[in-house]
Amino acid sequence: MTNLTLNDLKQICIEDQIPIIQEEALSFILDLIEKEKIESILEIGTAYGYSAICFSLKNTQVTTIEKDVFRAKMANSFIKDMKANVKLIVDDALNVNNLVGPYDLIFIDAAKSKYINYFEKFSKLLSPKGIIITDNMYFHNLTIENTNNRGTKSLLKKLENYKDYLLTHKDFETQILNLGDGLAISKRK
Ligand SMILES: C[S@@+](CC[C@H](N)C(=O)[O-])C[C@H]1O[C@@H](n2cnc3c(N)ncnc32)[C@H](O)[C@@H]1O
Repeated sequence: MTNLTLNDLKQICIEDQIPIIQEEALSFILDLIEKEKIESILEIGTAYGYSAICFSLKNTQVTTIEKDVFRAKMANSFIKDMKANVKLIVDDALNVNNLVGPYDLIFIDAAKSKYINYFEKFSKLLSPKGIIITDNMYFHNLTIENTNNRGTKSLLKKLENYKDYLLTHKDFETQILNLGDGLAISKRK
């Protein structure tokens, strides 16, 4: 593929039903990258690389982790095609133990049931003034009361636990913003 644009990549994600960051959340993060002079980013959950490539275009070094081999293969070809400054690791993020860091921004956008595990593991790699952003805090505005699906209910409970975990964390303060599907912004106290 040649001359691929971000818009082409976005369309491919939509056609292949690959969930990607919503525009409102993306533009908030891109502004934050500039404002906070963020240079290094760790992303958990690459999919086809859309958000990672967008972040890298702000002159950042992005490391991103994807466990699905097919998605990672697609991401790699898009990263190459767009000559993006993105390093892709193909593995379950919870098995990746050789990252050095520190990272100025950690973006958590993988399995919602594992958010606490990602936060616990990767917050250790955050630079002193770094920011952790977690996507999909609102989970399409579903609530435990208005859903009958047991799997969804259990996921919503885990998201609630994660919110409580963030809001009562002794070392981090968190704001949950009504942007895209809900972004949690966590900074050290
Ligand atoms: C919402 S998508 C990521 C979207 C991407 N950040 C974007 O906006 O373009 C979530 C991805 O996380 C991956 N994933 C889920 N659990 C993971 C894990 N434990 N380690 C690495 N990747 C994981 C899924 O395979 C999926 O491709």
